[in-house]
Amino acid sequence: MDAVVTGSSPSSADALKAAGNAELGSAEFAAIANIMQRDARIHLTPAKITLVQSRLSRRLRAHGLSTFRDYVQMVGADAEERAAMIVALTTNHTHFFRENHHFEHLCRTAMPWLQDRARRQPVRIWSAGCSSGEEVYTIAMCLLGTSSASASWLRQGDVRLLATDLAPHVVASAAKGVYSAETVAPIPAAYRDQWMRQVGPDYVMVEEARALVTARVLNLFDAWPMRQQYDVIFCRNVMIYFDDAAKAELEARFVDMLAPGGYLYIGHSERLIGAATKAMSNCGQTIYVKHGGRT
Ligand SMILES: C[S@@+](CC[C@H](N)C(=O)[O-])C[C@H]1O[C@@H](n2cnc3c(N)ncnc32)[C@H](O)[C@@H]1O
Repeated sequence: MDAVVTGSSPSSADALKAAGNAELGSAEFAAIANIMQRDARIHLTPAKITLVQSRLSRRLRAHGLSTFRDYVQMVGADAEERAAMIVALTTNHTHFFRENHHFEHLCRTAMPWLQDRARRQPVRIWSAGCSSGEEVYTIAMCLLGTSSASASWLRQGDVRLLATDLAPHVVASAAKGVYSAETVAPIPAAYRDQWMRQVGPDYVMVEEARALVTARVLNLFDAWPMRQQYDVIFCRNVMIYFDDAAKAELEARFVDMLAPGGYLYIGHSERLIGAATKAMSNCGQTIYVKHGGRT
């Protein structure tokens, strides 16, 4: 299970002190938690204090600051550092074919519907909170299949995958599509051999796969620049970091963004709440379909 910041033991707090890190007091933690809630809707409970201290100590050192008081003052006045702080407090853990039952559903159930639509209209798929791109390229490989022939429907239609995240460094990785041998290990060989090529020690997504994907920085709570509706949205292991009000708000926006009959995939420990529950039906483990698309 992922977490933005996980709890840590008293011994790790001692280790932090011994390493010369500044101590994070409750007032400064509360100020940081407020900024996280306001700007990214990320909810930090007091149990995260040691990890927040650990993650931000590097930021203090980078600015030559010795107290969190000074750092909090700095982020209050400096939007760039505020953004860097938010990024430092996100967790970007991801991997190829994570929660594989979603990709089985995508291949078996969603694909025939998407292929049918692609004959008549543009098809749009969004990996929201994409981290370094493993999720969006897993989707791409499912759509491409395991041969050049199985990918022909994508060449004939207008199919695009959007990958967004608030952390610029992971979006840059998603745009590049370059992964280590260890990272590509979960990819079935038939997909990897067809859609990646080895360059030195790394594996690079081939151009046909990369060309399907547009990677952009986007805070999910800002305005969304996309104009058309989406057929499939993946937002997995992102909403665990939000409180219920933020989850309900975001899920309602996903519903508005989805075409009737479109699919929403969420993380294994997440659930739909609020207005979204009325507009969507559960059609698999953490998979939802928007009402109105099929008879
Ligand atoms: C644990 S990763 C999940 C990656 C991928 N979806 C998966 O399930 O493997 C969570 C991602 O959500 C992003 N994130 C957190 N809050 C966000 C927000 N308000 N807007 C956009 N992205 C956010 C983080 O930067 C991080 O890369």
